[in-house]
Amino acid sequence: MMKVGLIGWRGMVGSVLMGRMKEERDFDHIDPVFFTTSNVGGTGPDIGRTIDGGQLPPLKDAASIDELKLCDTIITCQGGDYTKEIYPKLRAAGWNGNWIDAASTLRMKDEAIIILDPVNGNVIRDGIANGVKTYVGGNCTVSLMLMAMGGLFDAGLVEWVSPMTYQAASGAGARNMRELIAQMGAVHAEVADLLDDPASAILEIDRKVADFIRSDRYPVDAWPVPLAGNLIPWIDVALESGQSKEEWKAQAEANKIMRRSDKPIPIDGLCVRVGAMRCHSQALTIKLTRDVPLADIHSLIAAHNQWVKVVPNDRDITMGELTPAAVTGTLTVPIGRMRKLTMGPEYLTAFTVGDQLLWGAAEPLRRMLRILLE
Ligand code: HSE
Repeated sequence: MMKVGLIGWRGMVGSVLMGRMKEERDFDHIDPVFFTTSNVGGTGPDIGRTIDGGQLPPLKDAASIDELKLCDTIITCQGGDYTKEIYPKLRAAGWNGNWIDAASTLRMKDEAIIILDPVNGNVIRDGIANGVKTYVGGNCTVSLMLMAMGGLFDAGLVEWVSPMTYQAASGAGARNMRELIAQMGAVHAEVADLLDDPASAILEIDRKVADFIRSDRYPVDAWPVPLAGNLIPWIDVALESGQSKEEWKAQAEANKIMRRSDKPIPIDGLCVRVGAMRCHSQALTIKLTRDVPLADIHSLIAAHNQWVKVVPNDRDITMGELTPAAVTGTLTVPIGRMRKLTMGPEYLTAFTVGDQLLWGAAEPLRRMLRILLE
């Protein structure tokens, strides 16, 4: 059996990955070795089966190149700093195993393929045949956009796309999710007595909320500025282009995933953090290469993969199915609000939502493992 080392399995993305691997019984097909950065010798997790009738071996040291070298494949959700430190050492030590990584560190390296097999399964399989050993999950918004509109890219119908994102707290990490909830509670607590009084004036409530959000008493620690009752139109660091790094990734990564970096499709828009928990949403403006009827667009999109779901441009269905609350915790990637814009028949608008911890992070990793096991 393939010996697979797992690192960072206790964190948020790692926990989602573990949950999915158990659901899909991935552990039945591998010999797992669990690593730790803090609890060497500790007990491994429940993986839904026993190993040779006994327990999992004790946790190994994630900094030990000698232990890591014994693995055929390594899957890490430990984060970019870990990758930066360990990956070069491991390769320098002559290790030629498969490195499957959730962090962005290696994504744009020539030796790495960005993995999203419903979109670039052919690129991945060519990579395996050509001896590629480094496979990296894509940025969550990029992966979710491609899952949603892969059918249009495949048909050569996309001249350019402008994605305007509404990104959830989970993309910034577990602490940020907790703090968002604390912020929501704090805002409510600030005006709870006024809310209880039906005779109180809404503008008085609004003024108190606004004063509170701007005050030092509002809980901000993980977030640089308030998120609940607010939004943040900047994600990640600034680049000289005026883009945020998150915005830059859209074109760079999507074209690399589709193996067309030499002839890139322009993809650029603004990335915004909103107070959703773990689903990223995106409003897309798509310039088509030609006028195509909406019915054909629906069919192409729906036929691309089994997870995308075309939502009719209907008010009630949209509100029921095309929201973070509806999609959270599922692998479904709905896309709706599709219509031609008044700018002309080649201008299409769409809105899509996806769970950024599943297709946006964990799912492509476990599917890569399954491809290696084929
Ligand atoms: N960078 C993304 C975000 C998450 O901040 O939402 C990771 O892909």
